[in-house]
Amino acid sequence: MTKRFNVLRTPSARKSADWRGAAPALVEDVLRGLQSTPKRLSPTYLYDERGSQLFDQICELREYYPTRTETAILAANAADIASCIGDDALLVELGSGASTKTRLLLDRLPNLAGYVPVDISRSHLMGAAQRIAAAYPQLEVLPACADFTQYFPLPKPRRAAARVVVFFPGSTIGNFDTPAAIDLMRVMRRMAGIGGALVIGFDLVKDPAVLEQAYDDSAGVTAAFNLNVLRRLNRELGANFELRHFRHQALWAPAASRIEMHLVSTVRQEVTIAGEVLSFAENEHLVTEHCHKYTPASFAAQAAAAGWKAERTWADVQNYFNVQYLDQRP
Ligand code: AVJ
Repeated sequence: MTKRFNVLRTPSARKSADWRGAAPALVEDVLRGLQSTPKRLSPTYLYDERGSQLFDQICELREYYPTRTETAILAANAADIASCIGDDALLVELGSGASTKTRLLLDRLPNLAGYVPVDISRSHLMGAAQRIAAAYPQLEVLPACADFTQYFPLPKPRRAAARVVVFFPGSTIGNFDTPAAIDLMRVMRRMAGIGGALVIGFDLVKDPAVLEQAYDDSAGVTAAFNLNVLRRLNRELGANFELRHFRHQALWAPAASRIEMHLVSTVRQEVTIAGEVLSFAENEHLVTEHCHKYTPASFAAQAAAAGWKAERTWADVQNYFNVQYLDQRP
């Protein structure tokens, strides 16, 4: 049985080009980003309905190794990871999406006090929660529709939990610049509470050619995913971006240890968005996403700054990706 647990109401998808109905916070955030130097947008805007579908396609690409690699690590070590989590835990998954990877753990965790999938997209969340509840009839599923970057009180399972374990796969942590990543890891610590733990997946530094291909695939799916954010702004904020006048670029920034996804204006142009006129110079870049890549040491430092300490680390044979089990520093 699933029970609705509503933390946040997301505005429903709109079809009209009338931005006056858009959430003021969205208008303000987008304009602030586009009026900065360099121009930037929050990566969360990439994930509308179509963006989420394109991301699912990215995960199937030959060049995009993270999903496949992390899934293999979880599959190969599921029993070990499950024994770290232990009996009677409340498992909280942040950005749960379709909960595909979670099943690898749930198969080995028959005695969980409950499973709390957390996602900002209500339709994805409720669909996935129902499918999990159907596949695991003994499991109490308590979906929470929330923005996980802000602390929120967790739903209480009927059966008291021994402790909370946060699950944060997918290297989603890599989307956050270091200070924000530390803040988020502190939020996770607060959610986990005393005695709580964290199971997290993160992508590792590797040959830049491998990284750049993973974010600029030959089929052009990542390009379509990146450009789709402009389509979204056209629809939701009444903007008039011409998608053919922008091109996708993925570049490895070694100093910041991240892949950056950019949209490059191929011409000098003006765009109207939410009633404001913005100018783009020829070759001006708009930053849409940062995907940080770590070394074991750089991730440990970030985790330590938020009060976490790695107890176990699992990797693939190529050392492309890590899954870690962390608990709290005394
Ligand atoms: C979902 C943030 C983990 O950084 O690899 C994939 C997003 N962007 N291709 C990543 C993404 C372009 C992805 N994360």
